[in-house]
Amino acid sequence: KKITLSVIKADVGGFVGHSGVHPELLKKACEELDASPLLIDHHVTYVGDDINLILTHELGCNSGEIGRLARNTLSACTEVAKKLKLCGAGQDLLSDAFAGNIKGLGPGVAEMEIEERKSETVIILMADKTKPGAWNLPLYKIFADPFNTTSLIIDPSMHCGFNFEVYDLAENKKINFAAPEEIYDMLVFIGAPGRFVIKSVYHRGTSEIAAVSSAQPLYRVAGRYVGKDDPVCIVRCQTGYPSLGEVLEAFSHPHLVAGWLRGSHTGPLLPVEVKDAHPVRFDGPPRVIALGFQLAGGKLVGPQDMFADPAFDNARQVALDIADYMRRMGPFEPHRLHLDEMEYTTMPQVMRKLKERFIDLPEDKETGT
Ligand code: 13P
Ligand code: 13P
Ligand code: MG
Ligand code: MG
Ligand code: MG
Repeated sequence: KKITLSVIKADVGGFVGHSGVHPELLKKACEELDASPLLIDHHVTYVGDDINLILTHELGCNSGEIGRLARNTLSACTEVAKKLKLCGAGQDLLSDAFAGNIKGLGPGVAEMEIEERKSETVIILMADKTKPGAWNLPLYKIFADPFNTTSLIIDPSMHCGFNFEVYDLAENKKINFAAPEEIYDMLVFIGAPGRFVIKSVYHRGTSEIAAVSSAQPLYRVAGRYVGKDDPVCIVRCQTGYPSLGEVLEAFSHPHLVAGWLRGSHTGPLLPVEVKDAHPVRFDGPPRVIALGFQLAGGKLVGPQDMFADPAFDNARQVALDIADYMRRMGPFEPHRLHLDEMEYTTMPQVMRKLKERFIDLPEDKETGT
């Protein structure tokens, strides 16, 4: 019997600003899911202003019924958000023409259909104020870097390595890389996480799924690209996969990610426990939570709040120091994102206004070269 674990997330209104989710919305989401006969189990959580629905069922990936359930749940939450006039109510649910499949609409989705192992340990990573490319570096470390994951060296069931499926968001293509042989080629691409994003990772011995992120091709909805930010990722752990500690270890070094205020800045990814998942300083810094579960017949035994561990205090301190450092650059790159990557820009308007004042420079003189 196969179990599907689906994590579906959306921002349907922030409380206060873009910093959190109002408890009434979480309550509404739980009520809606409690009433559904489709699910084996569910857990509702949040990071920043994003509601995360963690669902188990037997309907497989891309299920129209699960898509509809998530959609209806998030729509019900949107109604509450509108009533409370929350910030950006319904911002991730723009299309009314819902065809059943939740992909292509605003909500982010990561899901995997698995044969539950004797012990099925999973970690669900959820981030706010950043984009799916934020998982590239940690997924690389977890599944391809022996200095993070000793098990790649010492565990006979992992020594064969992992396959990485990478999306090119600009060209709408995907490609597979085999680690370790092809890591140099792969890093050429995944080192540019604004365009090339790791979608999934597979065990090379069993071809079983090891991890899946909410990366998706960009769809234009209501004239803009949606559903691409504030990502989630599911990672399987233990027996054939990295240990739980090797998954979390990848977050002990707070790497720089795109997002933060107005999705237009670079900042460190701060690992926090759920109670601290309220990005406030300059609407950030971007943060990540990790919830661990043991699956038992599809039941979500948990969660355990993984970053509620003083061993991550040092990482948090480093992240805060980096945040101070980056903030001092104000509107200068690379703190402010490159022009092509910002979610907000006034460049076209300001350029139009000042066009006449730009004067041609004299032609280059003969340089003699
Ligand atoms: P325990 O000895 O505490 O069960 O830990 C086993 C292990 O492999 C930890 O990585
Ligand atoms: P969200 O993507 O989390 O809604 O954040 C938007 C924003 O503009 C924060 O400054
Ligand atoms: Mg928001
Ligand atoms: Mg958000
Ligand atoms: Mg966002």
